[in-house]
Amino acid sequence: MKITLSVIKADIGSIGGHIRPSDRLIDSVDSSVRHAGGGFLLDHYVGTTGDDIAILMTHTYGVGAKAVHELAWNAFVEGTRVAQEQGLYGAGQDLLKTSFSGNVRGMGPAVAEIEFEERANEPFLLFAADKTDPGAYDLPLYLAFADPMNTPGLLLAPTMSAGFRFTIMDVNCTEGDRVIELDAPEELYDIAALLRDPERYVIESVRSRRTSEQAVAASTSRLHNIAGKYTGKDDPVMLVRVQKDFPATGEVLAPFSIGHFVAGAMRGSHQMPLMPVKLSSGISWFDGPPIVSCAAFCVHEGKLTEPVDVFDHPFWDAVRENVAAKAIDMRRQGFFGAAMLPMAELEYTGIVEKLAVLDRRFRLRRAAEAREPVLVHG
Ligand code: 13P
Ligand code: 13P
Ligand code: MG
Ligand code: MG
Repeated sequence: MKITLSVIKADIGSIGGHIRPSDRLIDSVDSSVRHAGGGFLLDHYVGTTGDDIAILMTHTYGVGAKAVHELAWNAFVEGTRVAQEQGLYGAGQDLLKTSFSGNVRGMGPAVAEIEFEERANEPFLLFAADKTDPGAYDLPLYLAFADPMNTPGLLLAPTMSAGFRFTIMDVNCTEGDRVIELDAPEELYDIAALLRDPERYVIESVRSRRTSEQAVAASTSRLHNIAGKYTGKDDPVMLVRVQKDFPATGEVLAPFSIGHFVAGAMRGSHQMPLMPVKLSSGISWFDGPPIVSCAAFCVHEGKLTEPVDVFDHPFWDAVRENVAAKAIDMRRQGFFGAAMLPMAELEYTGIVEKLAVLDRRFRLRRAAEAREPVLVHG
């Protein structure tokens, strides 16, 4: 059976700052999807990560289906009313347009979708990250799909030895989707050269080169490109099909033990290590650290199993401790140098006006003013 997995995610308000949506808000989104989707969704799941709500839907309408996108949009609009009633912070934050126009892409919510012929056993992972941006998945995907040091399946599984095709998007381009396709392993260095800059180059999808089957779909939206100013981080979602032709679940999860530095945390403006957390985790220290959750599912004829919370395991407690230590260490240098994002990323924040005012106060020192060296006698 051919099905589509669609995950659409938005921040429409949260308790106590950018922390976690209220139970009433989550219930509202869930019941909107349940009521409106009754006729045509095969199944759905609603989960939260930090202040974001993700709606996972299974259906047969393909990628970019208007009815599916509209259903999610309406659930978020309805939820925003609840958020306003409860006085939640940032009510409707990610709904950047006032009316729905056919597809949620470019309207604020993040979206990732894959259409495929179901395998007899169809395991997949739903990742959702908060207080970071889509580039956060670049390193884990590179390691999981292209590096035999991480993924022994590239050596051991004949189904994977032909490698994978990466579609990478230049997310700075606002005229349209500027994409490139690169093949691992032959073009590994080219892939690495682009992924060196995760604020600009984001992996949108990965396919098996043996079968052309799609393994990965990740969201690529940059909110500041839509709003023209900082309105919140582009907290990304991602779907990854696993096992057989694709890396095993453990090979996809392994890179998250690094706690690599990503853009995000406080005011979306810092470099902080990414912490793998349990489902429904909130946000705390320094509006961070950036977090990522992962729900594992199997799907059969569009029906989802219950999610398994893969970062809820004693192993990840040690990783979380290490990430917390890295985060605290980085914070010791405050705004200085590498702790904050480079200026190109801060361009959408208030620092631009501050620097413009200071710029007018700069002056070129005239030659006559230049000080002679003072000689001290005796
Ligand atoms: P497959 O059954 O998909 O080959 O998986 C084996 C495995 O996961 C070992 O880690
Ligand atoms: P969100 O993008 O998760 O709403 O976070 C915004 C922020 O700036 C937190 O400091
Ligand atoms: Mg928020
Ligand atoms: Mg968020």
